[in-house]
Amino acid sequence: MKRVAVFLSGRGSNMVALVRACKEGRAEAEVALVVSNDKKAPGLEKAKNLGIATEVFARADFPSKAEQERRMVELLRAWRIEGVCLAGFMQIVGPTLLNACPNRILNIHPSLLPAFPGLKPQAQALAYGVKVSGCTVHFVDEGVDSGPTIIQAAVPVLEDDTEEALSSRILQKEHEIYPLALDWFSKGLLELEGRRVTLKGGDALKGLPPEGFWWPGLAG
Ligand code: GAR
Repeated sequence: MKRVAVFLSGRGSNMVALVRACKEGRAEAEVALVVSNDKKAPGLEKAKNLGIATEVFARADFPSKAEQERRMVELLRAWRIEGVCLAGFMQIVGPTLLNACPNRILNIHPSLLPAFPGLKPQAQALAYGVKVSGCTVHFVDEGVDSGPTIIQAAVPVLEDDTEEALSSRILQKEHEIYPLALDWFSKGLLELEGRRVTLKGGDALKGLPPEGFWWPGLAG
């Protein structure tokens, strides 16, 4: 079981979903710390209300991104943090943070990657006219929303969907799959070979909803 930090820049609903899952025993991990790059992020107040320590590292307060990330890494070490969950953290992770946490940073993105990376993926999905979209939890690499996929969930795109309606349907699934991914990561069940992620041990798949989810295959 790992101590993790959640990084956010905004509302913090995925952070709340992760903390609740940990507190309720659905994810065997401890969210010890919430970090934001925006002191006005509403997620910070939510974290405080949940009794979680918070820290802010605004990019503008540091001479360079490397320096900002170096200070983040110092904090993670001081708190004995073993993994990071990006949850609406709107800053690309640079080499300083990435190299300090190899294969230990997870991200959630509201599309079925590799479709629609970057900003406003729900609007991108609507504009493209796809009939299915969803969300993806993946390991973070040096690219934008490009690391190895851990789990995905799909939702239909409806005829009369708005960006808000589709986003909220996807968000419900985000709150289901991120705790699952954190649980597997925290238990050390995720095996990475190239871009392929597999799960050690069949028990991890017990109780998963049968439809609309795609989870890692079992390791050999
Ligand atoms: C979520 O939809 C998350 O998937 C997305 O930002 C939102 C944050 O909401 N992340 C990205 O687009 C990352 N590329 P939240 O603050 O309520 O969790």
